[in-house]
Amino acid sequence: MGHELRMERELSLDFLRVCEAAAIAAARTMGQGDRKYSDHVAVEAMREVMDTVPMRGRIVIGEGERDEAPMLYIGEEIGTGFKSAEDGETYPEVDIAVDPLEGTNLCALGGNNAIAVLAAAERNGLLNAPDIYMDKIVVGPSSRGVIDIDAPVRDNLKNIARRLGRDIEDLTVIALERPRHNKLIADVREAGARIRLISDGDLSAGISAAVAGTNIHALMGIGGAPEGVITAAAMRCLNGEIQARLVFDPDRLGVDRDKIPPRDEVLARLHSMGINDPNKVYDTDDLAPGKKIIFAATGVTDGALLRGVRFFGAGKRTHSLVMTTESKHIRFVDTVHVEGGPDQVIRF
Ligand code: FBP
Repeated sequence: MGHELRMERELSLDFLRVCEAAAIAAARTMGQGDRKYSDHVAVEAMREVMDTVPMRGRIVIGEGERDEAPMLYIGEEIGTGFKSAEDGETYPEVDIAVDPLEGTNLCALGGNNAIAVLAAAERNGLLNAPDIYMDKIVVGPSSRGVIDIDAPVRDNLKNIARRLGRDIEDLTVIALERPRHNKLIADVREAGARIRLISDGDLSAGISAAVAGTNIHALMGIGGAPEGVITAAAMRCLNGEIQARLVFDPDRLGVDRDKIPPRDEVLARLHSMGINDPNKVYDTDDLAPGKKIIFAATGVTDGALLRGVRFFGAGKRTHSLVMTTESKHIRFVDTVHVEGGPDQVIRF
């Protein structure tokens, strides 16, 4: 079977297993109040299963630089394709962006919408984004082509409302509740739309904005750039749209200058990553240009799209979303992980 087919058909199931494992590990720690520990167990579990995937994988967005992250660091090579180099098999070359636990606080406090998530593509199919902030606007398929990150909030909302055939008053915008969003929030209110403010998790929020029936019509505001790339991968599969721009100006972030690296340092780092225009507006294809994209996410705690992990006597149950750019299948996967003996009853 050719590489490309194998990547689509087989790896999506493998990546499902990877996310399930991370979600189960993190969910065990739900509510313990230790976000670092929750993240740590998710990373460990994700890495362990990822290393069993038949690929030559390379982490492009992960837990940090090699010297600061022992596992799933940027540039880490992962998958059986590296170990079995001598077996005569050829393995797909895959770039992977991971967020083993999106919403570490949400998990640590038992809040909604924590997920384990990853995106994969052929080599160079995902932007190697720096771990800095990114301003984003995310919408679903109906509003594709009418948003502009530089336009006033009211104009974007007017266009989204028109495309959805409703009034601005009937729109809900989701945004992280942060002081840096005071103006954004005021603008949305003034335009007349409703707002859902969330404490964390703008990746899962962005995905909700692209799925009809969630009653979320747009995500707006500044969150992490790595989350932006994974959101873009999801948009490629869901026909949604993201527009984004890197942000490192302390005034825009509403933080003291000494809280983030000096501008020159950031610019030099961006340059070394191949980003020469720090003000560039990225669209969905810039962030996730891959021809073959796989997106997988598993709910850790209950959320708008995915249920959290449920534990019972002899097993657990997970709820995941798996999709690819090629196949027209958006799969919601409900998995029962059976641990009991032959008499174990599987409940519907
Ligand atoms: P973690 O998964 O690392 O806990 O990040 C959660 C998150 O809320 C992201 O969803 C979001 O992009 C980012 O943090 C926002 O950063 P900040 O909390 O610094 O505003």
